[in-house]
Amino acid sequence: MNIDSVEQIIRARRTIRTVSDQTISLEVIDELLTSSSYAPYHSKEEPWEVIIVANPCDRQLFVEKIMDSYDRLDTWANYDPQNVTKAKKRTREYFLDVPLTLIVTAPICESEKLNLEAIGAVSAFIQNFQLAAWSRDIGVTWRTIPVIFDEVFKQAVGVETNRQIIGLLDISVVDATMKLPTSRRKPVEQWTTHLSDKLTDIKGSN
Ligand SMILES: Cc1cc2nc3c(=O)[nH]c(=O)nc-3n(C[C@H](O)[C@H](O)[C@H](O)COP(=O)(O)O)c2cc1C
Repeated sequence: MNIDSVEQIIRARRTIRTVSDQTISLEVIDELLTSSSYAPYHSKEEPWEVIIVANPCDRQLFVEKIMDSYDRLDTWANYDPQNVTKAKKRTREYFLDVPLTLIVTAPICESEKLNLEAIGAVSAFIQNFQLAAWSRDIGVTWRTIPVIFDEVFKQAVGVETNRQIIGLLDISVVDATMKLPTSRRKPVEQWTTHLSDKLTDIKGSN
């Protein structure tokens, strides 16, 4: 295994919020999902499930359900009333333009531990998907927009009541004309501490 190339992909991947109109074949999506499923998991069964929104009919229905949910959640109340019509149009057009979306879910578990493990494993699955996609010039936006917590929306897009949406993944080919965003990270020394130093800090502050 070429560790350098894995690290390069991890560092180079960016969230892509613009979309291209190039189609992505379902064969490629199946391959990427298969690779993603090698994520670690700690339950009896692999916890991820994925609903694919690919064909134009599904996309139209999906976008209508998103817009219904935004209305139901009163999302537009946060907007200047003068801009609401434009914002709704922009939102609808964006979601209609996305070539392919994946609705990725995990089981809802009563126990805090099992729920953490389910969300953790499905998040690892999603990151695997983002990295594998990036290695093929496919960009992903992992979205946790408010609609994912709306039970009516969940039901309308076929998510069972005993499952939670961990992300809506908007997927598009990254083409040469797109300006890739830059993304910085804090230096490692700003967010790591040795246990002994941490304990000294805590004692000092008491
Ligand atoms: C759990 C999670 C939820 C996210 N939800 C959204 C979202 O709702 N909308 C969005 O535009 N980006 C969303 N993102 C993408 C982040 O904004 C993005 O990863 C971050 O800005 C860092 O940029 P990068 O992915 O290019 O490194 C989400 C990312 C994660 C991990």
